[in-house]
Amino acid sequence: MANNEDQFKKVISHAKEYGYVFQSSEIYDGLSAVYDYAQNGAQLKKNIREYWWKAMVQMHENIVGIDAAIFMHPTTWKASGHVDAFNDPLIDNKDSKKRYRADVLIEDYVGKLDTKIEKEVKKAAKRFGDAFDKDQFLATNPRVLGYKEKGDAILKRMGQSLEKEDLADVKDLIEELEIACPLSGSKNWTDVKQFNLMFGTKLGASAENAMDLYLRPETAQGIFVNFLNVQKTGRMKIPFGIAQTGKAFRNEIVARQFIFRMREFEQMEMQFFVKPGTQKEWYEQWKETRLKWHLSLGMGPDNYRFHDHEKLAHYADAASDIEFRFPFGFKELEGIHSRTDFDLKSHEEFSGKKLRYFDHEDNESYIPYVVETSIGLDRMFLAVFSNSLVEEELDNNTSRVVLKLPAVLAPTKAAIFPLVKKDGLPEIARQIVEDLKWEFDVLYDEKDAVGKRYRRQDAAGTPFCITVDHDSIADNTVTIRHRDTMEQKRVPIADLKSIIAEEVSMKKWLMKM
Ligand code: GAP
Repeated sequence: MANNEDQFKKVISHAKEYGYVFQSSEIYDGLSAVYDYAQNGAQLKKNIREYWWKAMVQMHENIVGIDAAIFMHPTTWKASGHVDAFNDPLIDNKDSKKRYRADVLIEDYVGKLDTKIEKEVKKAAKRFGDAFDKDQFLATNPRVLGYKEKGDAILKRMGQSLEKEDLADVKDLIEELEIACPLSGSKNWTDVKQFNLMFGTKLGASAENAMDLYLRPETAQGIFVNFLNVQKTGRMKIPFGIAQTGKAFRNEIVARQFIFRMREFEQMEMQFFVKPGTQKEWYEQWKETRLKWHLSLGMGPDNYRFHDHEKLAHYADAASDIEFRFPFGFKELEGIHSRTDFDLKSHEEFSGKKLRYFDHEDNESYIPYVVETSIGLDRMFLAVFSNSLVEEELDNNTSRVVLKLPAVLAPTKAAIFPLVKKDGLPEIARQIVEDLKWEFDVLYDEKDAVGKRYRRQDAAGTPFCITVDHDSIADNTVTIRHRDTMEQKRVPIADLKSIIAEEVSMKKWLMKM
């Protein structure tokens, strides 16, 4: 497809056209950075959630799942540091009146240097052909090294300035790099200011007695405040984890890039409680385990990279992002954070309740350290969806649009067609739907020529199409067509379940981890 921007536009319009994602309240012209998942999107999202849950909870004897409330006691957010420190540095452009996150403007600048590196690699690969050694080129080419050094120095300076709350230096950096407003090209900037991202709301009927609450900005705190309840009732022994999925809310300053940065989104988080002093080992282990989970989906190792943080959040002693190659470049998909004992210790102080673990083996009591894995479900959706959308040239000088979703995540696993709407073929096709629907999400379609139906399902991401024809009446066989290869095979109707299960079972995919 033409270029990254075009490709991203195609992703957004395809998501709407094929019933994946709609703008929220579209009939009222939408609500900025809020989206609704449509019939196929809700199912894809559910499948991703389940793929995560199985890998994290079902496959780990020492990890359990909970579902905490979105509303939490307001002191939670004092204790967690969100009231005082959950801020983004914002900057306004005086000419366009547009507001930006200062750190994102700088990161985008560095992203452009990364794109230049990728271009150098492509050029060299073309020049040297089979003899090209990418690693050696990246380690020795003076131009690449220059871009890399410049990018690293910029990020380091920004990290240090944000750490010291030196917002004047962040503005100086923007001016020195001559960063312009992406909309107007103007370099006329205001000072950088901090902006708290939590949404406030009220609990209670009368104004005098109402209690100020926040919509949770992360699901993690619901896990921390329940740490001891779960540990005791589940008789959990350290190391152990608590997982949950659920909505989180952030009043993002710059909410753009479709479902990449939303104001209401869903997280899938796991807090792993470990003995103090062992957190580094667990941090490394979880980085590896989570990357394997991503790779199990077969979207290509070149699309992922780690980005270790220079600037650490107020609670962390180490943090890394798994970044994914989105249509707009490499961006954070998941965070792995070594959160120390910050949260539990702070909840102890603010609540006055002990949140300690008694270690029977060592006969000592301590506040556990925590390693967290935190992934945005919507962001994972975007990674899967955007990576799957391809336009293929076919042998007969035509092309087709295919959504090559990993079959395990596809919302509909098979579409069943009668070749024609008569001669008893619809009845057989309906019976196949009846049999398969107990195990898989399937659909029936009899409208249009069969070629058109294939194209419709290719674009919707359905891995299998099953066609019932006149031979089916005589020999109980059907044609099964694979979305990605377009290969068609004649198979007995009785074998359909096992053929589909072989391709879509979570077990088969998760075993690749
Ligand atoms: N509990 C730790 C935490 O919340 P985070 O890095 O702020 O850490 C974790 O968020 C993940 O949540 C991110 O890697 C991203 O996938 C997702 N996420 C964060 N803000 C988001 C937003 N505004 N829209 C969509 N996803 C978001």
